[in-house]
Amino acid sequence: MRVIIAKDYDGISRTAASIIAKEIRAKPRAVLGLATGSTPLGTYKELIRMHKEESLDFSGVRTFNLDEYFGLPPEHPQSYHTFMSENFFDYVNVKAENVSIPDGTVTDVESFCAGYEESIRKAGGIDLQLLGIGRDGHIGFNEPGSSLGSRTRLKTLAEETVRDNARFFGGEEKVPRLALTMGIGTILEARKLVMLASGAEKAGAVKNAIEGPLSSQVTASALQLHPQVAVVIDEKAARLLDRREYYLYVEKMAEQVEHDTGI
Ligand code: F6R
Repeated sequence: MRVIIAKDYDGISRTAASIIAKEIRAKPRAVLGLATGSTPLGTYKELIRMHKEESLDFSGVRTFNLDEYFGLPPEHPQSYHTFMSENFFDYVNVKAENVSIPDGTVTDVESFCAGYEESIRKAGGIDLQLLGIGRDGHIGFNEPGSSLGSRTRLKTLAEETVRDNARFFGGEEKVPRLALTMGIGTILEARKLVMLASGAEKAGAVKNAIEGPLSSQVTASALQLHPQVAVVIDEKAARLLDRREYYLYVEKMAEQVEHDTGI
């Protein structure tokens, strides 16, 4: 696991965007797994800038979003469909037919979720999955207690998550209680994972995910099982890590090796 500690939010956004851009440049038909929430906003902004100023081309890119609130139609102002259009898709050249986001209005949930998994498989699997982390250690909406082998399904949001997301809805009572989300098993099948965290309020979750035991109580700890993970966090989110100095040293050494050998 690479733990990249950037100075601040702008730093994590630039680092994450450059990892994603590198993937797209190496594989123009890359399959990206995307996340919503506050944390990746800066990453999307930086990718939009790279599209405009550095001709980063998304025309062959296929995307799958992690999750969507259950019961919200795509056109709802707080749906993740709207979020993705307003914060990313409207500004880059990803083709509409190459975008998949779970549909929060489906009635046959089970067959929809099986179909979502099937489309990921048909696309060749996810090359790079972008993730945020909730204060309770969730990735996607895999709340504490989610099976580490779980697949795309309907999940009940934890109270803490409902409270955290109330800011987008203008009140806790307006936040949907259920969401469709890729499972931990689904996420772990992506070839690369990039998890972002920013701010002191994420420090506990980050510590538990990276240095705590593997546990369904902190579903982000499942990242420890994956061979290709970059955890990109700012100094505030890294505050509780016991091995902080070592992670910084490893990155310095990696830079040196890259510098000396051109790898
Ligand atoms: C969103 C998602 C969630 C968020 C997490 C953190 O698609 O999957 O796991 O990444 O709730 O949200 P923010 O970034 O708003 O703190």
